[in-house]
Amino acid sequence: MSTPVLHVQHLVKRFGEFVAVNDISFDIRPGEILGLLGPNGAGKTTTIQMLLGLVTPTSGSIQMFGLNLETHREAILQQVNFSSTYVSMPQALTVEENLWVIARLYGLPQIQERVNDIVKRFEMEEFRHKITRKLSSGQSTRLGLAKAFLTEPKILFLDEPTASLDPDIAQKIRSFLKEERRSSGLSVLYTSHNMHEMEEMTDRIIFLQRGKIVAEGTAQEIVARFGQADLEEVFVKLAREK
Ligand SMILES: Nc1ncnc2c1ncn2[C@@H]1O[C@H](COP(=O)(O)OP(=O)(O)OP(=O)(O)O)[C@@H](O)[C@H]1O
Ligand SMILES: [Mg+2]
Repeated sequence: MSTPVLHVQHLVKRFGEFVAVNDISFDIRPGEILGLLGPNGAGKTTTIQMLLGLVTPTSGSIQMFGLNLETHREAILQQVNFSSTYVSMPQALTVEENLWVIARLYGLPQIQERVNDIVKRFEMEEFRHKITRKLSSGQSTRLGLAKAFLTEPKILFLDEPTASLDPDIAQKIRSFLKEERRSSGLSVLYTSHNMHEMEEMTDRIIFLQRGKIVAEGTAQEIVARFGQADLEEVFVKLAREK
């Protein structure tokens, strides 16, 4: 088995007395898409924010590419990117300007070519010169995904990447993601509340419940273990357990 690109051990995050993430450990292997599943408030976004160095863990360790995030933050984050709805881009810049800013921050070569390529791939030609503040929510999600893929990361954290996309674009994004994983060995941590998408996209799933991992395995394994018809039924069963 290959060395994991991400290795999380005993990760904990408390906000005062409240424990949002409660001692979770997991790995992501090269080229693997790991699904992070769980009800609202389970701790998914908090986990991703810790992996991005945006939230400081209360305890536990995070390693990527064999390096510790605490001590090798810059080297690690250079090879990582994310998309989410909770971090918005500068609103007064156009779509294209925002992509340029990211490209510069990451020190990418041949920026215009890359920007053109990504604008085309995500079908953003129509709004590439629009001010970010004026984008529809689906357009803004596409910009977030475009900036995530622009830097050709080795690990991608996608927090509900298809939540506001129309079915056509959502499907295109999913096939693009699969293609990237195949061609470049991209590893992904993926959250979604769409269970069919989880079944389609992930190699393995961890199910978080009140900050703890309560189930782990492929979607099929989890469905079989809980004796349900599909992942959606497992989700409802687990979410309603006290
Ligand atoms: N800065 C904060 N201060 C206090 N509590 C917080 C903070 N950030 C998150 N929490 C709490 O931690 C818990 C986990 O939140 P988180 O956003 O990680 O959930 P989630 O699994 O991403 O949920 P959702 O499916 O709704 O996106 C929630 O109860 C939330 O209120
Ligand atoms: Mg969340």
